[in-house]
Amino acid sequence: MRNTVKVAVIYYSATGHVADIAREIAETAEKAGAEVRLRKVQELAPQSAIESNPVWAAHAAATAEIPMADVEDVVWADAVVMGSPTRFGNISAQLKQFLDTLGGAWRKGELADKVYSGFTSTGSPHGGNESTLLALMHSFHHFGGIVVAPGFTHPDKFVDGNPYGTAHHDNGGTTPVGDLTRKAARVQAERVVTLARAVAAVSSGSQ
Ligand SMILES: Cc1cc2nc3c(=O)[nH]c(=O)nc-3n(C[C@H](O)[C@H](O)[C@H](O)COP(=O)(O)O)c2cc1C
Repeated sequence: MRNTVKVAVIYYSATGHVADIAREIAETAEKAGAEVRLRKVQELAPQSAIESNPVWAAHAAATAEIPMADVEDVVWADAVVMGSPTRFGNISAQLKQFLDTLGGAWRKGELADKVYSGFTSTGSPHGGNESTLLALMHSFHHFGGIVVAPGFTHPDKFVDGNPYGTAHHDNGGTTPVGDLTRKAARVQAERVVTLARAVAAVSSGSQ
């Protein structure tokens, strides 16, 4: 059985909340024995828009060194965990643009049979976290992915209450990612690694 699974954590974040969750998931997956690539997607907003929001500008500068996601990162991975802030109840254009670069790999069947999972952040508690996560999962189904949701598989999930994926709400930018969201992220990352390991074992014929 192959123990080292490869996990790609791919996200878009303007003001840092989704990026915080991405880091928590990446670190937890690494602790669980996975080889991890943490990648951000290409910014599409004009520089003037970024500069008009000091939090956005500061986050962009602080994460300048995070490598840019590439199609190859998805093809490489056994498990892909993607995150986006809510944009009117949907995923961001930036993450959608990255998904749209995957057409060639999809055509070659290179996206299928992997574990996929999603995370998000919203401004308000009912501002669209579930619709965003489900929108992201539309694409996972097209890929022939194995969608791994956290469900209510751990006591911590009965506290944060979101079976679709890790979801923070920042209360209009005033609430940083805290313990509740971090625990949800850790449950999700551990579950992704466990399931990816099981799929890899079956694929390699060792089980
Ligand atoms: C254009 C735009 C649309 C948004 N739409 C929603 C929304 O529908 N519901 C919501 O709760 N928050 C919405 N937000 C707020 C962000 O999703 C939220 O602040 C999120 O936590 C930001 O994540 P980030 O810090 O990783 O960029 C929107 C923000 C922007 C800029």
